Amino acid sequence: MKFVALSGSLRAESINTAVVRTAAELCLPPVSMTVYEGLGELPFFNHDVETEGPPPEVMAFRALLESADAVLISSPEYAHGTSGVLKNGLEWVVGGGELVDKPVAVVTASPSMTGGDRAQAWVKETLEVMGAHILPESLPIPLATAKVAAGRVNDEETLGALRDVLAAMARAAKERGTEE
Ligand SMILES: Cc1cc2nc3c(=O)[nH]c(=O)nc-3n(C[C@H](O)[C@H](O)[C@H](O)COP(=O)(O)O)c2cc1C
Repeated sequence: MKFVALSGSLRAESINTAVVRTAAELCLPPVSMTVYEGLGELPFFNHDVETEGPPPEVMAFRALLESADAVLISSPEYAHGTSGVLKNGLEWVVGGGELVDKPVAVVTASPSMTGGDRAQAWVKETLEVMGAHILPESLPIPLATAKVAAGRVNDEETLGALRDVLAAMARAAKERGTEE
């Protein structure tokens, strides 16, 4: 079973990138998770370019999502929304339909008490209109700076919650697989 994870932050010390890297390490065979690191290299979405034929990096991003049994997205909250870089990446897969019916879990990690709940609502609304299967186990992580060290989540409660998210992704992917 193959999962793909996206972090909506390009920051070197990102708590959201720490979340997806930790989640990838929590996956046990037969589940594996690929952390996509190329969001920052995707060009700004342009419908003209999409119509003419998207560039190779966009095609590779689409193919990776297409190949995933489930997707984990961890988003920062900027100015009460998600990051531009994540929204841009999602715009490139609206037309391709790679996330239609795909199980997607949304995590938002923020230093604030709210855990990025407004960004979470933004990402979910975008995913909903794209036809993704948004998992109810999606997770806000409040006060997240104190739960990360050396690029990984180290808070036991959060690690447990991430394991629950991964289990929900596996269940949903399995159910989808048996329906097809
Ligand atoms: C321009 C800017 C706007 C921000 N706006 C919010 C916000 O609306 N809500 C929030 O919880 N945190 C906000 N933050 C704090 C981010 O959640 C924090 O920088 C976080 O570490 C970003 O995620 P990352 O560590 O994955 O890069 C903002 C930070 C910046 C630089």
